[in-house]
Amino acid sequence: MAIFLDTGNIKEVERFMKMGIIRGVTTNPTILFKAGVTSGNQGIKSRSIEISKIIAPYPLSVEVTTNDYDKMIEQAQEYSGWAKNINVKITIHGPKGETENLEAIHELSSKYKMSINATAMMSAQQCLLAAMAGAEYVSIFGGRVNNMGYNSCSEISKLRVVLDRQQLTSKIIVGSTREVLNIIEWLEAGADIVTVLPEILNGMIVHPYSKETVQMFLEDAAKTERLL
Ligand code: E4P
Repeated sequence: MAIFLDTGNIKEVERFMKMGIIRGVTTNPTILFKAGVTSGNQGIKSRSIEISKIIAPYPLSVEVTTNDYDKMIEQAQEYSGWAKNINVKITIHGPKGETENLEAIHELSSKYKMSINATAMMSAQQCLLAAMAGAEYVSIFGGRVNNMGYNSCSEISKLRVVLDRQQLTSKIIVGSTREVLNIIEWLEAGADIVTVLPEILNGMIVHPYSKETVQMFLEDAAKTERLL
């Protein structure tokens, strides 16, 4: 069971690595753009290499930026060459439902022995197929599943059962965190990894009542000093 950080922000990666609580980082083009990455592939490359060094040997997921079959294969090979701990994210299908992506996942995992993170999945069924195709990680977007009116925890538990029953070793990553509660509920439901936004991970640490209690300790400590 592990927590990954879902970010492209270097300072956040460093901050949580220093605490010793994260075991990997996931990114996607939207996350990198929000974290200030520009200059296309060159920007993605330099940010990815920077993060991969900070977290090594823990894994970093970097997503391809195309849905053209040959370019996905080419980018995946390029990205995985940037650092040993980089795995490549391929979406389960294209924007119009193009299904060649599963072929790409299979080719990259079987022929090129690459670590693939099959991503943008919304159901246990999609994840099962990606696991069968050979993906090392299967990423289901729990927050988006809930937003569509389905129960993310039930999808995760179903997925856990079918992967284990078929002895498929793909690790279940649940992303798209929306609330602090998501982390513990998704791990409990059977996720191997929950990838968490920095602000939500911060919310997991900081509790208003803990703040109040610590304040009480500090004030009473000051009082004991005054009595000296
Ligand atoms: C996970 O790997 C994804 O990068 C991420 O969690 C997607 O989350 P979103 O639904 O907030 O875009």
